[in-house]
Amino acid sequence: MNRLLRLLQDGRFHSGQELGEELGVSRSSVWKHLQRVESETGLKLYKVPGRGYRLAESLSLLAHERLAPHLDRLHWPLYLRGTIDSTNAEALRLLQEQTLAPFLVLAEAQTDGRGRRGRKWVSPVGQNLYYSLALKVSGGAQQLSGMSLVVGLAVMHALRRLGVELAGLKWPNDVYADGRKIAGILLELTGDPADVCHVVVGIGINVNMLAIDAGIDQPWTSIRAQTGSMVDRNDLVLALSDSLRGYLQRHAAFGFSALKEEWEASHIWQGRKCILSTGAQDFSGVVLGVDQQGALRLLIDGCEHSFSGGELSLRLDS
Ligand code: ATP
Ligand code: BTN
Repeated sequence: MNRLLRLLQDGRFHSGQELGEELGVSRSSVWKHLQRVESETGLKLYKVPGRGYRLAESLSLLAHERLAPHLDRLHWPLYLRGTIDSTNAEALRLLQEQTLAPFLVLAEAQTDGRGRRGRKWVSPVGQNLYYSLALKVSGGAQQLSGMSLVVGLAVMHALRRLGVELAGLKWPNDVYADGRKIAGILLELTGDPADVCHVVVGIGINVNMLAIDAGIDQPWTSIRAQTGSMVDRNDLVLALSDSLRGYLQRHAAFGFSALKEEWEASHIWQGRKCILSTGAQDFSGVVLGVDQQGALRLLIDGCEHSFSGGELSLRLDS
């Protein structure tokens, strides 16, 4: 499937003969192969007599040869997958098989992309970024304090570098642009949090997606929707990796407190009246910022309260 998609990703017409020759199949069976691609990927293909076949929309697929040399310099071996359940799940499996961290897992599509609290992350073929970086954490889980917020900063900067000027952060680790969700972050921990453990930093960024049938029950956007241009996903991987490496180094060296002010300056709901839901209870208050560990500080009835933990969800109090 990937070979066919690679040929067709330019969105131009390709003749049955050309595709047949490349695939080593007869011209008459090319259409059968293409129909399988359509049903497996959900991508729309056109067949025009005399001209050949083309994708309804061009695609930007990931290319090992573009990425690996750069990632090698970061000492991040790359595991590039076609369609898998989830890049986070794949990274956790690789860790279980004793694969040495750091390493990076990327995929063209996820069938079971996961968000926080068991939610689904919509992950169509070749359109968005599904990125999981596995890291070894020495010195206990306190090293992770504020890390998911720092990853948000790194994602936001990579997006701004690619022209998404309105990218901003929503506590704890969503990235928004123009009031819509453009990226999500899911950190998963494995091992002994008191000793040596590993963290998988999972990042999903909407890149070239302009429409989706179902699955996203909130306003969303993509880099392409924000900038009006198609993005080379390889360029985004490189920009994001650079940005992440820089922020993670600063976080490891100086802790979250060194990045707290920068984070607050990028928080889209700083000073706004919000509702924080713990699942069991809702709290209404004004967002004061975050503390040295990245916990949310809310002013509730004149008193300051701090909140942290994976089950919390913040929304505007309209
Ligand atoms: P919070 O965590 O503060 O409650 P949230 O509503 O965004 O915020 P998350 O668990 O962080 O919840 O993210 C999962 C949600 O993200 C899904 O329920 C869905 O609404 C949305 N979502 C799923 N796929 C995408 C996508 N590709 N782009 C944008 N949003 C998505
Ligand atoms: C969220 O906003 O709830 C977090 C979404 C995280 C999605 C990314 S996509 C790459 C990695 N693999 C997954 O299954 N999830 C994360």
